[in-house]
Amino acid sequence: MAFQFLTLDRRGSVEYVTLNRPDVRNAFNEHVIVELTAWASAAHQDPSLRVVVFGGAGKVFSAGADAAWMAKMAGYSHDDNVRDATAGARMFLAINTIPAIVIGRIQGAALGGGSGLAAVCDIVVTEPQAIFGFTETKLGILPAMISPYVIQKIGVSAARELFLTGARFDAVRAKEIGLVHAVVPADQLDATVTRYVKEALTASPTAVARAKALIPKVAGRAPEDVIAITADAIAAQRVSPEGQDGLQAFLTKGKPGWIKEPQ
Ligand code: COA
Repeated sequence: MAFQFLTLDRRGSVEYVTLNRPDVRNAFNEHVIVELTAWASAAHQDPSLRVVVFGGAGKVFSAGADAAWMAKMAGYSHDDNVRDATAGARMFLAINTIPAIVIGRIQGAALGGGSGLAAVCDIVVTEPQAIFGFTETKLGILPAMISPYVIQKIGVSAARELFLTGARFDAVRAKEIGLVHAVVPADQLDATVTRYVKEALTASPTAVARAKALIPKVAGRAPEDVIAITADAIAAQRVSPEGQDGLQAFLTKGKPGWIKEPQ
């Protein structure tokens, strides 16, 4: 599929994906949702993809849902609204479950669904000037499609404060609540992303995918209730080719075959 609102730059096993609607600060509408969902679905099918760097063109990562798109939905039936919103929810699910490591690169702002996009990344790097917020209630709407992912990241207490007030908050607060992982000076954003890419490329791709899938299966559950799931996960991985490669490489002081340098 040819993309109008996404720019893709593939370098070996790393893909740089950039939202490209800078005139509206990379706000997403139904067309961006179709493209992002198609791209994420392709990412699911691509075992050679190991790292995604997800960013936004221009001065801002993403201003979230396109207000003009949301406003025009008043002209549609409830069923049409549900269908349209379900497509949005499926986009967030598709990105959230990409088996590769997804690194968010956030400059300027991530507001509303933009903060939701940050929440479906595995690692988020930002600059001190960036602002965040679940601003939807200020616009008379609510952070619905993004809520499962955001609550998984920031917890119920911060969600109750920030969803209900719609208050904007800074990068330091975003890090405190777990929405971002590193806050670095703007001129070190790319170098920091590259460091994470390098780190990510030293991890076994099949182990990464299995670990990522395991987290939501065990999160919030009693340890005794997930013994079968966790035992099954390690039982399968340690005897797999990459499990054996990694363990033997450690024991013989060698290097596992999956390690790659960023291109
Ligand atoms: N939906 C539609 N258009 C948007 C938008 C959104 N979510 N966010 C910004 N835009 C548009 C603006 O209307 C403006 O259009 P114009 O040039 O025709 O006037 C253009 O993008 C630039 O926005 P502007 O506010 O001038 O840019 P800025 O760099 O000064 O500020 C933001 C950037 C992101 C801080 C600011 O645009 C903002 O607060 N946007 C709203 C974010 C939000 O609350 N999102 C939740 C939506 S549910």
